[in-house]
Amino acid sequence: MVPAIALGAREVTKSFPGVRALAGVTFAVAPGRVHALLGENGAGKSTLIKILTGDQTPDSGTVVVADEEVSFGSPRDALARGVTPVYQELTVLPEMTVLDNVMMGHESARRGVLRLREQREHARRALERVDLGGLDLGTIAGDLSLANQQLIEIARALVRRSNVLILDEPSAVLSGDKLEALHSVVRSIAAEGTAVVYITHLLDEVRLLADDVTVLRDGTLVSTGPAVDYPMERIVREMVGRQVDSVFPDPAPPRDEVVLTVSDLVPRGAEVAPVSLELRAGEIVGLAGLVGSGRSRLLKTLAGVRGRGEGTVAVEGRPLRPSLGATIDAGVVLVPEERKRDGLVLDLPVSQNCTLTALRSISTAGWVDGGREKAAFAEERERLGIRAAGGDQLARQLSGGNQQKIVIAKWLRVSPRVLLLDEPTRGVDVGAKSEIYRIITELAANGMAILLASSELPEVIGLSHRVLVFKDGAVVGDIPRNPDAAEQIMHLALGTES
Ligand SMILES: Nc1ncnc2c1ncn2[C@@H]1O[C@H](COP(=O)(O)OP(=O)(O)OP(=O)(O)O)[C@@H](O)[C@H]1O
Ligand SMILES: [Mg+2]
Repeated sequence: MVPAIALGAREVTKSFPGVRALAGVTFAVAPGRVHALLGENGAGKSTLIKILTGDQTPDSGTVVVADEEVSFGSPRDALARGVTPVYQELTVLPEMTVLDNVMMGHESARRGVLRLREQREHARRALERVDLGGLDLGTIAGDLSLANQQLIEIARALVRRSNVLILDEPSAVLSGDKLEALHSVVRSIAAEGTAVVYITHLLDEVRLLADDVTVLRDGTLVSTGPAVDYPMERIVREMVGRQVDSVFPDPAPPRDEVVLTVSDLVPRGAEVAPVSLELRAGEIVGLAGLVGSGRSRLLKTLAGVRGRGEGTVAVEGRPLRPSLGATIDAGVVLVPEERKRDGLVLDLPVSQNCTLTALRSISTAGWVDGGREKAAFAEERERLGIRAAGGDQLARQLSGGNQQKIVIAKWLRVSPRVLLLDEPTRGVDVGAKSEIYRIITELAANGMAILLASSELPEVIGLSHRVLVFKDGAVVGDIPRNPDAAEQIMHLALGTES
């Protein structure tokens, strides 16, 4: 018989030192439904998931599987009951092959019952479902893009026979085709009767995928119900607890002074047409284009993190050497797309993470001044709405979105001349998004030059003075500020006629 509740929580409470992550939360997912779990950064979504999957134990309250109260001692207990999680933190082992990663922990594989050929069959089928059918099973996982690693992680979950599949922000590193592949697999799994819990900060996905919605705020349940009852304004209002300005602030006009000059740049190892561009003080230039169109590669090249290739880059007329040290000294910094991997020292306190890049500004005679470090963190915490128990909390213990805010804060501390932003609002909640928009606009008004790459077209269009469109590594359009440019930009990015 089909249970009414595939997976649920009754009155679950969980505290960490200094934080009450969940307070009496009740939650239920029905078989065959996609259930969106929403809330601001730090609202308690991931904690709820970890309790539902046996990774953490609640202080009080119970977990329900197939209408029965259960008590999980470990994630293995949950897996045995058909509850399969894909956590927010990637667990792909970078040294292992795609095959080993997909089949990792699979029961029959562990018992050695499954022969290699069958294993390959299983893995291949799971990979096909996430549109990675063409991938060589022997590829070393660490060589894949972050997006493909995320899809490998999902394929691993698909290999199991699950009654409940839990996806904690799977779309945070996916866009374009990859995102569509994910959506179609989620739909087909739900159609087969599996319950799906889906956590996301991309509210469009709620409209596209969700049958039911639950909103958490500050560790408490705000409301739950069918998705048709949740227009966008309601979701935002319930998540944030106040009205959020969704309009983009008008940017101040840029100045005449050219800060960054890029001439005939061809990134190392890329066979693409050379890129030239000029960026003026106070100017925000958006970079639009499909995944793989060369935006991130250009930003990394400018930041000196992947060598140079051909061409020249100059800051205020002075040629820039292609190394990380030289670019930081010249005031050029990158907030990278792959923040978890490139951006944080997880076992250091958040206050230290925040000031790592600007040690000089908080040091006296070569010694870090603890008071100034605290003050710097307090300032950023206020500015970006970082939710942490205190500056001493380890970066590892922050929620995903709050970790991202720390990385952004750490680069803002150096007050760069040129700020390179790669997907700055990925994984960040709607309230914090509008804060980040405000900060970007303010920094530019104060003379900072900003290059902004984002897969969210409204964000690029809304923030930028002009938008450069990338296709196959080349700039195929330079569109002046225009709120209705979306269609034109898409046509240029796709190479279709408009
Ligand atoms: N291991 C831990 N130690 C201490 N505090 C923790 C730990 N895990 C979570 N927290 C805290 O519990 C609260 C809820 O965190 P959680 O990760 O559940 O948020 P979230 O809703 O998933 O947010 P995000 O959208 O940013 O991922 C946060 O304040 C977080 O700092
Ligand atoms: Mg989370």
